[in-house]
Parts: sequence; C-alpha cells; structure tokens
Amino acid sequence: MDKEHVFFENYAGTWDQDRKENPEVLSFLIKMAGISAGDTVLDVGSGTGILLPYLHQAVTDTGRIEELDYSHRMLEQARQKFASFPGVTYTEKNILKYKLPQKAYDAIVCLNFYPHIAQYKEVFIKKMTAALKQDGSLIIMHDMPRSRVNAMHDQGENPPSCVLPPVDIMATMLITAGLTVTVAMDTESFYFIRAEKKQYVPYEQYPEHAAVHEELIVPEGEMHGHSHGHDHGHVHPHTQTKAVMNRLARISGHLEAIKRMVEDGRDCSDILIQISAVDSALVSVGKVILRDHIDHCIIDAVKDNDMEAVDNLKKAITTFIK
Ligand SMILES: C[S@@+](CC[C@H](N)C(=O)[O-])C[C@H]1O[C@@H](n2cnc3c(N)ncnc32)[C@H](O)[C@@H]1O
Repeated sequence: MDKEHVFFENYAGTWDQDRKENPEVLSFLIKMAGISAGDTVLDVGSGTGILLPYLHQAVTDTGRIEELDYSHRMLEQARQKFASFPGVTYTEKNILKYKLPQKAYDAIVCLNFYPHIAQYKEVFIKKMTAALKQDGSLIIMHDMPRSRVNAMHDQGENPPSCVLPPVDIMATMLITAGLTVTVAMDTESFYFIRAEKKQYVPYEQYPEHAAVHEELIVPEGEMHGHSHGHDHGHVHPHTQTKAVMNRLARISGHLEAIKRMVEDGRDCSDILIQISAVDSALVSVGKVILRDHIDHCIIDAVKDNDMEAVDNLKKAITTFIK
C-alpha cells in the first residue's frame, strides 16, 4: 500500500464530516452529466459514496452503479450508508491495475479523482475510453474550484505532476484520445468536463467519399505522375491519410458540438474554450500532414533535385507557422 492509499484508509472514518457536501452543486453536476434511467455507471474513486444518492436518482432502480475505489474502508462506509440501493456493486481495485470490461458503461464519473492519476493520464483516459459504450460519456468533475484542487495537491514539485489542468487543456487531451468534448466549465464553485465516445464514420464510408473521389480522378492522358494534389512528377504515398481523416472527423464532430452550444445560447467563455480546443486539434493534424509530407514527398524530391517541390514545402511551412 502506498502513502496515499494509507492516507485514504485512515481518513475514511471522518471523511464525510470533513468533506463539505453541497447538494445543490452535486445535483447540478449530475444533471450536466446527462445520465439517464437504466444507465450503467462507473464511479471511479468513489470514496464513501458521496455521489451514490445522486447517481441512484439519475439511473433509478432500473440502472446499475459500480462504486470503484482501492480503499477498503472508504467502500465500507458507502456500503453501510446505502445498503438499501438496488443495482449497486462495490469494486475494491486500483483503477490503474484493474482490467475493466470493454464497452460496458454509459457513463464513467470521476468526482475529485483526476489529480490522483494525473501522472498516468494518457493510460487512464485511454482505459476509460475503451470501457465506455458507444455514445457513453467520461465525466471529470470537482465540486470545488480548480485553484483549490491544485492548492490541495501542490507537493512543491516543479513542474507539478498532480495538477488539474485548465479545461481547454483537458479537452485537448480527451479529443486526442478520440472523444468529443460536449461540456467544459471551470467556475468559482466547480470544474466539469464531459466527453462523449461518438460514433465516427471511417473516411471510406462517408457518403460523399465516392463523389469526392470522382472529382479527384484525373482523366487518362492528363496523368502527370500521381500526386495528392501536387503538380510535380512524383508518386508518393501518404501513409497518414487514414489517421488524418480520423482526426478531421473528430474535429468536425467537435465543431458540431460548438454549433449546438451557440444555438443553445451557452456562455461565451465556454464556447471560446471549445474553439481553442478545436484550434489546437487542427494545429496538431496540420503537424501530422506536414510530417507525412516531409517523410514521403520531400526526401524523394531532394533526391531527384525537384526544387519546385522543395519551394512548395517552404511556402506551406511559412503559411502553417504564421
Ligand atoms: C479525493 S477522494 C474523492 C472521493 C469521492 N469521490 C468524493 O468526492 O468524496 C479520492 C478517492 O480516490 C481513491 N483513489 C485514489 N487513487 C486510486 C486508484 N488508483 N484506484 C482506485 N481508487 C483510488 C481514494 O481511495 C479516495 O477514496
């Protein structure tokens, strides 16, 4: 058992007295989580089951809730308090080591938990994404402001490893993992981000795909090598096309979510945060294209002394980094 685990075991008995639960804030957070009757929900780092009554109200008796925590005593508290709730299971496991079922949950909620796995964030987010059903949501939330969370977890490290990042950075991490961020809020009384595992349609299956390809087909006789839009004479495969199309599909899903936020009259600062996340995602897809271009086009062009291709690359880089 590591130091932090021992800390929580020792704290379990007095956790509820020390923890100032604000039912209004918790009800609001669960409402924003979009959990419905009959859902299957995983509550990661569930502690003494603070969220359990709110989750139960949302999923009703027809749903299922899994309370997961590595602290035996924390879970014992939850079990004692809410023994009468049907459909609740208690899993005493370290989330980083536990083999979660795949595509099993409609929602995974993490209340006041993220800083405890911040050092392993990529692994954690990937694992949670795999455990979500299609259209399921990962919700990372705190019923206190981010500044207070970070003050509590400040261990004097430089750079600190257990921080709760601003929502735009968190959004970018979630988008990179393949999720679509639908709500992101950082206020004086809470931090909330919801990311959904949206169905993504592979490029090949886009209905417009065939039409687009028809437009791109160059009639025989006009062929001048093959060139993904280049007009110099090299044939060079772009190995990252599929990855680029996947990223662009996610970005366009994210943009649709922003359009909905604007239509719904959502707070401008929330919308700007989302726009900045899309902006970062676009820059990173641009980098993939640039790297692919350098790897597969420019090396050949330099070998063949094709200065036109090299000049074109210079222009593209200048535009990209402007
Ligand atoms: C700050 S408490 C939050 C408890 C509860 N969600 C709340 O808001 O009252 C963090 C909880 O995460 C649990 N925890 C920390 N690291 C964990 C891990 N790797 N796996 C499972 N549980 C963990 C701790 O035992 C503790 O109960």
